[in-house]
Amino acid sequence: MIRIGDIRLNDFPLLLAPMEDVSDPPFRAVCKDNGVDLMYTEFISSEGLIRDAIKSKQKLDIFDYERPIGIQIFGGDEEAMAISARIVEAVNPDLVDINFGCPVKKVVTKGAGAAVLKDVDVMVKLTEAVVRSTALPVTVKTRLGWDESSKNIEEVAERLQNVGIKALAIHGRTRAQLYKGDADWTLIAKVKDNPRIRIPIFGNGDIDSPEKALDYKKRFGVDGIMIGRAAIGYPWIFNEIKHFLKTGEHLAPPTIEQRVQVIRQHLYHSVKWKGFAAGINEMRRHYTNYLKGLPNIKEYRLRLVTVKSVEEIDEVLNEITKVYSGYQFDRRKADMEAMAYSCG
Ligand SMILES: Cc1cc2nc3c(=O)[nH]c(=O)nc-3n(C[C@H](O)[C@H](O)[C@H](O)COP(=O)(O)O)c2cc1C
Repeated sequence: MIRIGDIRLNDFPLLLAPMEDVSDPPFRAVCKDNGVDLMYTEFISSEGLIRDAIKSKQKLDIFDYERPIGIQIFGGDEEAMAISARIVEAVNPDLVDINFGCPVKKVVTKGAGAAVLKDVDVMVKLTEAVVRSTALPVTVKTRLGWDESSKNIEEVAERLQNVGIKALAIHGRTRAQLYKGDADWTLIAKVKDNPRIRIPIFGNGDIDSPEKALDYKKRFGVDGIMIGRAAIGYPWIFNEIKHFLKTGEHLAPPTIEQRVQVIRQHLYHSVKWKGFAAGINEMRRHYTNYLKGLPNIKEYRLRLVTVKSVEEIDEVLNEITKVYSGYQFDRRKADMEAMAYSCG
């Protein structure tokens, strides 16, 4: 069993990575039904929360069926981080996560996200400010370091543990790499092997298949794995990895019926959370991934992204189910390159 403060997770938990514009309530609902053990909201600006910005406040939306769920904040100012931690605590998530990995310029220039990797003293102060401001477990998600010459994750891990964080997720890249090259998990393993480290260490970066999950579990000895891009449009990856870790066998790829059922579930939550117009609109960027691999799907996809009502979407989904019933999908190879990049 893995413990994050008073949160208890099964051995070797699978985590849905926080992803801006992706890990929202509708997508999380779908992942929750497909085997994920712990999820995070999209990152939320501490300044935005204090300003009561609508977009920031909406990202605070969490639901009991999602638990355990963490709310992720970012910022470079101690007081703002302390205040936003209290705002977050008021909506009662299971944990507060701090983003110290976002490589994006507009975040880094505010001294937030990955910027603090350049000054561990500041990182420690910001973390202390959050830990002091909430009774909830505080965790951190970060990267190996700012650049190739300053990979300081071993120091970071110990010092943040010493000020009270309850778990650490490490993306195996530096800020300078953004998403380039392969994620390097060797330093993540060194952090885990450090006898003074007692908190769970979760590895993150490029896990896109059950085989790779098993291989990285064996080679790097982390306490669990955090998955981002490979889950986009393919929430089945969590159960597929779990089944493979347990049996060494692959689950059959999801059938068209299963894919359409997940599309309907995602749409239902999208409309419920965002209202009809925005909810239907939001779904349009998800159909491609859910229907990937189907021959001659373009015409149907075009209709899905143009119709305006749930009833019309339903009609197209019924047709797709009928036309592709019994279609044998190949086992998926996630196209990580094609995924949009963002903060973390
Ligand atoms: C579209 C997108 C949005 C992201 N948003 C966040 C975020 O809000 N907070 C964060 O800590 N990381 C964010 N990340 C980084 C992911 O959490 C993860 O660290 C990264 O994608 C590497 O994992 P992967 O190889 O499994 O995708 C984002 C990544 C993507 C692709």
